[in-house]
Amino acid sequence: MFGKRTDDGRKPPGNIPAGQPGGVPAALAAPPSAIPDLPLPGSGFGTQSARPADGGQGAVAAAEAKRAEPRASSRKSENYYDIKSTIFNALIDAIDLTQLGQLDRDAARDEIRDIVNEIITLKDVVMSIAEQEELLEDICNDVLGYGPLEPLLARDDIADIMVNGAGTTFIEVAGKMQKTGVRFRDNAQLLNICQRIVSQIGRRVDEASPICDARLMDGSRVNVIVPPLAIDGPTLTIRKFKKDRLKLPDLVRFSSITPEGATILEIIGRVRCNVLISGGTGSGKTTLLNCLTGYIDHDERVITCEDAAELQLQQPHVVRLETRPPNLEGEGEITMRDLVKNCLRMRPERIIVGEVRGPEAFDLLQAMNTGHDGSMGTLHANSPREAISRLESMITMGGFSLPSKTIKEMICGSIDVIVQAARLRDGSRRITHITEVVGMEGDVIITQDLFVYEIVGEDANGKIIGRHRSTGIARPHFWDRARYYNEERRLAEALEKAEQRNDGE
Ligand SMILES: Nc1ncnc2c1ncn2[C@@H]1O[C@H](COP(=O)(O)OP(=O)(O)OP(=O)(O)O)[C@@H](O)[C@H]1O
Ligand SMILES: [Mg+2]
Repeated sequence: MFGKRTDDGRKPPGNIPAGQPGGVPAALAAPPSAIPDLPLPGSGFGTQSARPADGGQGAVAAAEAKRAEPRASSRKSENYYDIKSTIFNALIDAIDLTQLGQLDRDAARDEIRDIVNEIITLKDVVMSIAEQEELLEDICNDVLGYGPLEPLLARDDIADIMVNGAGTTFIEVAGKMQKTGVRFRDNAQLLNICQRIVSQIGRRVDEASPICDARLMDGSRVNVIVPPLAIDGPTLTIRKFKKDRLKLPDLVRFSSITPEGATILEIIGRVRCNVLISGGTGSGKTTLLNCLTGYIDHDERVITCEDAAELQLQQPHVVRLETRPPNLEGEGEITMRDLVKNCLRMRPERIIVGEVRGPEAFDLLQAMNTGHDGSMGTLHANSPREAISRLESMITMGGFSLPSKTIKEMICGSIDVIVQAARLRDGSRRITHITEVVGMEGDVIITQDLFVYEIVGEDANGKIIGRHRSTGIARPHFWDRARYYNEERRLAEALEKAEQRNDGE
């Protein structure tokens, strides 16, 4: 329609409710000597009352982190672990685990409390009330949840939890990595917790299959890798699910983007530009994708394809698809490419691919080119130019024997805008480029930046000082699209204001 491809402008019939997450509960695999073999409560740990309100990012998150930190980092003595281990073993002997498993979390906790108090009296353990409470909390977490991870999972200001073997746990709060005092009794306990997590999606981790991706009940994304591949013990990485997802105004508040830049992103999302979001690990790609999808009209049929469902689309007509790894026999794998190809038979209006990392790049570009305008995906790259060459190599390596020029033409004819996200060395996240793919000159794809983030320096506290600059383009390539969707005025205003901001600085 706008010179690049066709748009059949179809609209879907009726409303189909959003898909449900497909966690498959399965028998848990903890050997009785470590953590008892109990089913996890359906509500998961997300129901903990200790969960603080979402502190957002930046200053608020930092303040929250400070408040919550002492608990996470309080180092417990060896003596504490010895006492806990004695009481824990006595508890396991005393309770009927099957019956406990049938109680709801509060009732189970009361039951455990009574028995633990009795054991403490019987064994003559000297403890203050506060210590007893802490011990009880720890034991309940071990029996009913994810053990020492529970207090971290209950915090909403943490972005990532990284467990490197039983003794070391790091967290990322407000863009900064911190070491915590959280530790596991031993690697066996940690492995058991990993086992519990992956068993919820019907998988196991062991020597035979030492790598596994999973999702917690609350939607957090988990990766587990265990020995012999992980040399120092089971290694667990959790990208915490944000209950209150960040929206574009939040990104403006954190100075990740200017208000004008945000308006332009909003328009890009609304007017069905095909968008590639590029960035490094943890730079905020998924968050940005989530933000952009917020501007999709409610009557559009959207299909999302992800490795572990993270996106939180608010539209009524969304179908969520997830890839599947092969089973123990190495069969049954459903790849991202399978999903994207299948998508095309599901009458999508927009296709959203959580992360493009392989030959599905080809199918996504095809889809973008054939009437599924407004499709989006993320990709790991450090600049918009690198994103283009990554796309090219994904297609080449996917075994499509196409000449380089054809692949470039395909990219050029499909992608409208590349948005680059970055996590700077001070931990802040910025949108560093809004770049348009404008055409080809000979064998080279031509791009033009609308916005760039320039680093100016660093203040005394190591905080990076920088500014977003408009490049002064008054008529972006997607102008006609904006006009078609009646967003032309808003676009012109935002571009003008952005230029004035340049002059004002
Ligand atoms: N602009 C931002 N300002 C502050 N925090 C942000 C911003 N964008 C994202 N975050 C936070 O950073 C963390 C990582 O974000 P996100 O999951 O979007 O990154 P990603 O690039 O998709 O990571 P991955 O490469 O692991 O998929 C999340 O906790 C998110 O809430
Ligand atoms: Mg992501």
